[in-house]
Amino acid sequence: MDNTSFSRRRFLTASTGFAAVALAANGAMDANHCFAEGANSPNGDAFPETTFSLDSRQVKFYSKAVDKPVKILHISDSHLYMDDERGEQYVDYSQRMAKAYNSTSNYKTGEKTNPVEMFKQIVAEAETQKPDAIVLTGDIVSFPTAAGVDFVLENLEKTGVPFYYVAGNHDWHFEGMPGSEKDLRNEWIEKRLKPLYPEGVNPLAYSVNVKGVKLLMADDSIYEILPEQLEIVRKELATGEPVALFMHIPLFAPGRGVGFGVGHPNWNASTDRNFEIERRPRWPEGGHTETTFAFRNEVLTAPNLLGVFTGHIHRQSLDICKGKPLHVAPAAVDGSTVTIDILPM
Ligand SMILES: [Fe+2]
Repeated sequence: MDNTSFSRRRFLTASTGFAAVALAANGAMDANHCFAEGANSPNGDAFPETTFSLDSRQVKFYSKAVDKPVKILHISDSHLYMDDERGEQYVDYSQRMAKAYNSTSNYKTGEKTNPVEMFKQIVAEAETQKPDAIVLTGDIVSFPTAAGVDFVLENLEKTGVPFYYVAGNHDWHFEGMPGSEKDLRNEWIEKRLKPLYPEGVNPLAYSVNVKGVKLLMADDSIYEILPEQLEIVRKELATGEPVALFMHIPLFAPGRGVGFGVGHPNWNASTDRNFEIERRPRWPEGGHTETTFAFRNEVLTAPNLLGVFTGHIHRQSLDICKGKPLHVAPAAVDGSTVTIDILPM
């Protein structure tokens, strides 16, 4: 996968003194932050100096921890909705989401379009750009549609670029279908989504190494992290390699609402406003599990974590927590993607 052609450009990285910043994107977005050098890695060594910058939909890291450029195309929330006879018996559970995003505007031209056309545009761009990897962080389909999964596979395979997927809350959710979210996620990953994952991985947490950078996928699409996932993520982080973490739902950041991210202290049954519309179990009375809070804390304090890349909110944003950038990709329904370049310093 050493096919990236990249002309290294000079750019400035501003050093800032804040511990946490939240920037919401209104159209163009530009943020720059240099995070701490010398935090201790799991083996006690200082993690090599690394910078982060964001310019519109382009994320860049320069790091002394990498020796080859890595380019990642991040796609989230394409909300594809096509269906066929395989979905007929589930129409009562899929009809609301099948209509939710079927008309959008191309973010570049403003022209009326739809998520199917925008997905084709994204694929065409990927064929030209040839990143080292494509990472899809969920809500790629609006419900577990076999036709949608076939469309995604057919198009991604055309690019010749390896792709890695982690589920969002809509990918496996048939609204109103009885069962716990945990069980329904397992069931529909098995029945519909499995071809989107690399063969043999645990869909709830797995990693791939791309030219020395670990791309770590963790499924937080039920707003919780399970103990088995925390164990896997701990082991992956403990290797000390530079890690980019990809999930669907962002991690909670101060100032953000309860629906924004995993680990919000007020996330619980009393703050759940959408469970009736989405026809799903209400968030639990007691809020997040200790495991979920521990996950957020351990991820953010891992010296070798470069950043966390998510979707779900459908609006680009950046928070910096404990010195780590938490970047939310805009939804691909309008053709949006994010390019992440991780470059030797
Ligand atoms: Fe979404």
